[in-house]
Amino acid sequence: MALLLQLQGALLLVVRYFADMLHLTQLYELAFGAFMRYFVERDLVPDFLLRRGIRLLLRKRLAETLEEQVQHKVRFVEELKVLPVAVQTAAANEQHYELPTEYFTAVLGTHRKYSSCLYNSPRDSLDKAEANMLALYCVRAGLREGQDILELGCGWGSLSLFVARAFPGSRVTAVSNSRTQREYILQRAQELDVRNLQVITADMVEFQATAQYDRIVSIEMFEHMKNYQELLRRCSTWLRPGGQLFVHIFCHKTNPYHFEVRSEDDWMAKYFFSGGTMPSLDLLLHFQRHLAISGLWYVSGTHYSRTLEAWLVNHDKERRYVMGLFERTYGRAAALKWFVYWRLFYLACSELFNFNGGEEWGVGHYLFTKPQGPEAAAVSSPRRRAAAGAGANGAGGGASGSVKAAVAAAEAGAAQAPAAAAASRRAAAK
Ligand SMILES: C[S@@+](CC[C@H](N)C(=O)[O-])C[C@H]1O[C@@H](n2cnc3c(N)ncnc32)[C@H](O)[C@@H]1O
Repeated sequence: MALLLQLQGALLLVVRYFADMLHLTQLYELAFGAFMRYFVERDLVPDFLLRRGIRLLLRKRLAETLEEQVQHKVRFVEELKVLPVAVQTAAANEQHYELPTEYFTAVLGTHRKYSSCLYNSPRDSLDKAEANMLALYCVRAGLREGQDILELGCGWGSLSLFVARAFPGSRVTAVSNSRTQREYILQRAQELDVRNLQVITADMVEFQATAQYDRIVSIEMFEHMKNYQELLRRCSTWLRPGGQLFVHIFCHKTNPYHFEVRSEDDWMAKYFFSGGTMPSLDLLLHFQRHLAISGLWYVSGTHYSRTLEAWLVNHDKERRYVMGLFERTYGRAAALKWFVYWRLFYLACSELFNFNGGEEWGVGHYLFTKPQGPEAAAVSSPRRRAAAGAGANGAGGGASGSVKAAVAAAEAGAAQAPAAAAASRRAAAK
C-alpha cells in the first residue's frame, strides 16, 4: 500500500512538473483531486495526512488582506439583504436532517445536541459538555418559568426538551424543517412526561408564528439562512415588546462567506451544507433595524473541535452499525464512501475550529432585544443602533474588542444566574 501511494505521489510530481511548465495548474489540481478522491473514498488515507491537507486548505482560505476583507464584508452584508431568507433548503435538509434518526442517536450525546458543546473541564464527557452549553443558554437568554418560548431550528430537541423540563411552567414551541426530528422529539417528550412542548415542521422561508413569545432561541440554524435583515424583522414581530432573541451561531472571527461549490475543494458545500453561510462574529450586528443587540459573547472554537472529535469517536466506534444504516440509506455501493465523507466532515470541522487555538473560527452568542415604548420607534435610527451595538449589558463592546474580552463578559454573565443553570442541570440529570 505504502509503495502504491509513493508511486502515485511520484506520478503526481511528474504531472505537476509538466503542468507548471505549460502553466496548467488546473490540470495538476484535477489530477490531485482525482487521486485524493480515489484513495480517500476507499478509506485508505490515514487521518494525519487528511488533517494536514485540511489545515493547508484552511490557510489558503485566510489569504485575503484586511482591506480586501473589509470590502468583501460590506458587499456581503448588502448581498444578504436582497437574498431570500434561505436558499436550497430542501437540499440541506436531505443531506443532513432527514438521515435516519438512529444515526444521530448513535453519534451524538444523550441530549442529541447537534451543535457545539461546552467543555468546562478537560474531564467533561460529551453528555456533560452538552448539558453545560444548554445550561449556559438558559442563563444568557434569560429563560425563566412562565415564559412563552419559541425555538427555531430545534434539531432533535436538545434545547427545547431541556428548557421544557427545567421550566415546566413555561410553554415551549419547537420548529424545524425535518419531519423525522419532530417524530423523535414527540417520542422523547412522551417518555419524559413533558407536556409543555409542541413541535412544528416548517421551512423557515415560509414559517409564520401565530402567537407572541417572550423569548426566541435559535442554535446553529442561522448558518442555513441568508437574509438576516428579513429573518430578524420576522422574529421581532413574533416577540412581545421587551422580548428577546438569543442566537448561537458558528462563525469566523472576521470574514463571512457562502458555502459555495467552486472547485472540488468545496466538497463540504456540495455534500453537507448546500446554501449555507459562514457568518463572521460581527455579521448579525449589521442587521439591527428591528432588534437591538444587548449581549454578545464568543466561545472558543476549541469547544466545537472537542465536540466534533467526540462525534467522530462515536461514528468510528459504531462503524458496523453505521455501515448497515448507510447501506439502507445511500445504497450498498455508496455506503463506504458516505461513511468516509461523514468522517471527513467531522475531521474537517474539528480542524477548522481548532485552527489558531480556537481563536479563528468559533461560536458567537447574541442576545437581541425588542424595544418597548418610545424606544421601539428609535431602534431603526442608525445612531440608536450604533449605541445599542455598544452593548446594553456591557458585553456588546466585545464586537470590536478582542475575542478574550467577549469570553470574559460571557463568563461574568454566566455567574450571575447560577441558580437557573443549576436548576437546568438538575432537570437534565433526572
Ligand atoms: C445544526 S442543526 C442544530 C439543531 C439544534 N438546534 C441543536 O443545537 O441540536 C440545524 C437545525 O436547523 C434546522 N433547519 C435548517 N434549515 C432550516 C430551514 N430552512 N427551515 C427550518 N429549519 C431549518 C435543521 O432541521 C436543524 O434542526
